[in-house]
Amino acid sequence: KNIVLIGAPLEEGSGRRGAAMGPAALRIAGVDTILAGLGHTVTDEGDLKPLPARDLANHPGANNLQIVAAITRALDETVHEAARTGKFPLILGGDHALSMGSVSGMARYAAEQKRPLFVLWLDAHADFNSPATSPSGNMHGMPVAFFCGQAEFAPILDAGRPMIDPKNVFQVGIRSVDDREREEIAEHGVNVYDMRAIDETGMAHIMHEIIATIKAANGLLHVSLDVDFLDPELAPGVGTTVPGGATFREAHLIMEMLCDSGLVSSLDLVELNPFLDDRGKSARILVELTASLFGRRILDRPTRSA
Ligand code: ARG
Ligand code: MN
Ligand code: MN
Ligand code: MN
Repeated sequence: KNIVLIGAPLEEGSGRRGAAMGPAALRIAGVDTILAGLGHTVTDEGDLKPLPARDLANHPGANNLQIVAAITRALDETVHEAARTGKFPLILGGDHALSMGSVSGMARYAAEQKRPLFVLWLDAHADFNSPATSPSGNMHGMPVAFFCGQAEFAPILDAGRPMIDPKNVFQVGIRSVDDREREEIAEHGVNVYDMRAIDETGMAHIMHEIIATIKAANGLLHVSLDVDFLDPELAPGVGTTVPGGATFREAHLIMEMLCDSGLVSSLDLVELNPFLDDRGKSARILVELTASLFGRRILDRPTRSA
């Protein structure tokens, strides 16, 4: 694959500092060399440095709206252009608000290809708040509602843009949902596999189901990996840890199965906060998971499964 690394050092969507160091930590952990070693072509576009979107007024329910909107617009453009020119956009975050831009850029590309876009949201959180429902005002808790086309958002992108059908969103690993979010995701029909579903049916079964649905629809798949999807023991470098997360093998299995599926067209690595990390541990595991998604396998032959 022809992979383009896009740094999005956004931290203003989260409630604290540190996620802006995420792109640097992922580069130091060797994301480019590991992918090149797997035979891919990797180019690094560096970090986005957009100016705040001054055309938008401050919003009491959406902290730092201007800078989040600026990153959204810049990523929307950059990601769309990368996909349009046959490249695989790999976004190095940055907090999760950046997915407003990466997903909208891919939604535009998918619409041009006349294929539906699906989103696999690997996260402890549903991130389906809006400025009206958010208990915190932090926009990293809002990207899914945004790209599902919820009307409450200020005009961050122009109206009438192709967005995502909530039924094409698969959330896996969920274990922290706010009260209003709970109502919203049910009302809009987002597909949620919470930690209990993973415990009861197993990750392999869930991934087979998701992959089969996307294949049947000839869809494209955007994967958004929030560090807090993983158990905090494994990946402490994130501001919003929630106990009881995915294990090392569950996370790698997802990536291995996605690799075999050939469906993935874009990836976000988000919420890494190197200031909170333990000697680069979380950065390293993100890079290792990325390697599994891009073809690193345990044995040089197809895995036998029943
Ligand atoms: N639900 C909480 C909120 O809206 C936490 C969101 C955490 N999101 C994240 N991407 N880490 O503030
Ligand atoms: Mn998130
Ligand atoms: Mn999260
Ligand atoms: Mn709604």
